[in-house]
Formats: sequence, C-alpha cells, structure tokens
Amino acid sequence: MSSNLDHIYPVFDKMLPREAKEELLGQRGAVIWMYGLSGSGKSTLANLLERRLHEQGRMVKVLDGDNVRSGLNKNLGFSDEDRLENIRRVSEVAKLFADSGIITITSFITPNNELRKMAREIIGDDDLLEVYVKASFEICAERDPKGLYAKVKAGEVKQFTGKDSAFEEPDRPDLVIDTEALSEEESLSVLLDASLAKVGRS
Ligand code: ADX
Repeated sequence: MSSNLDHIYPVFDKMLPREAKEELLGQRGAVIWMYGLSGSGKSTLANLLERRLHEQGRMVKVLDGDNVRSGLNKNLGFSDEDRLENIRRVSEVAKLFADSGIITITSFITPNNELRKMAREIIGDDDLLEVYVKASFEICAERDPKGLYAKVKAGEVKQFTGKDSAFEEPDRPDLVIDTEALSEEESLSVLLDASLAKVGRS
C-alpha cells in the first residue's frame, strides 16, 4: 500500500544529539501530560508548575488546549476524529520539545484511554509523566472559570466533554491529583514532587 511516507527519508544521525542539548540546558527533557475535564484545574496547575520550575532555573514550556487550538490546531473541532488529531499533533510537538531538552507541560482534556495510549506511544514511557487532574463534572460546572458550563446548560455548546461527548476514567495514570480534596498549594506540591522525580532534582 502506498502512503505519504513512501518517499520521505528522515535523517537523524547527522543531527546534534539530544544529550548535547540537555547538557547545554543542564536538565533532562520530559513531558508532563496533564489531563482532566474542562475546569478541573489542569491549566492553573500547569502554569504554577511552569513558574516554580522556571524559578529553579529550568527551561519549561506549557502547551495548553485553548492556546494550541487557536494556532497550530485552529482547523480542529471537538468530534472524536478531531480530538484524536489534536492529541496526535500535540504529542508529536511535545516530543520535539522534550528531544530538545525542554520540560514540556501539556494541558489537554485527553478524554479517553485510546488517546492517552497514543500520546504514550508517541512520547515514550521514559519521557512521560501522566497526570490525571481529577474533579467531577458537577464541581467543574460550579467553578465554571470560563463561563463555558453556563453556555453548555443553555444548549449553546455541542459535543461538550462530560455531557454529550464522553470522558473516560483513566486506567493507568502515574499520578492523580484530586483538586476537590486538595488546595491549589497542596496540588502543586504533589505535582512538583512527581515532576522532579521524573526530571531529576539537581
Ligand atoms: S481535547 O478533548 O481535544 O483534549 P482540548 O483540551 O484541546 O480538548 O480543548 C478543551 C478546551 O476547549 C476546553 O478547556 C474549553 O475551553 C474549550 N472547548 C470548547 N468547546 C468544547 C467542547 N465541546 N468540549 C470540550 N471543551 C471545549
């Protein structure tokens, strides 16, 4: 079968190796993949973690659903097919960042285990920390930081995750942060600890 890869010849051996970049930055690259419902606290925690690691002298990049969907992925919507393409592209981009020695924090709903598995396959076990930011649909709707749940209630948003588009509980997260039970500071502390265990404390 012919594919669009038939006449593509990737060359990796002439490229400066990842280790050279990690040495330059004095850190190990990795992807901290945060997922959960809209309003669960993913982006808040991603941004707090980025700041904390940055203050410690580390090079960090956050990739966030709302931002990436207004640029790289602005041609994608919220059908199952488009969500898959969204997560596939973000996984590939996160891998490129991690391969450049950068600690990459992603914040995407990533609503089912098939998508989480695909992200893991693209990024690789060694480079990935999978973090489920857990809060119920009801609590997220109460928090409603963007006013989106009110619009959903008014019938203005279709294919909304947790309502008419499914959110599947994860089967193998490395870490669960229950933002209903933990304060922001407590959540950050658990997240920072797990992240440092992944990238090294020095
Ligand atoms: S994902 O399912 O493909 O992983 P992603 O994290 O990129 O989703 O985008 C989710 C963000 O898009 C939400 O935080 C919300 O602000 C916005 N959004 C707009 N429409 C929807 C929808 N139908 N379902 C979920 N989120 C939506």
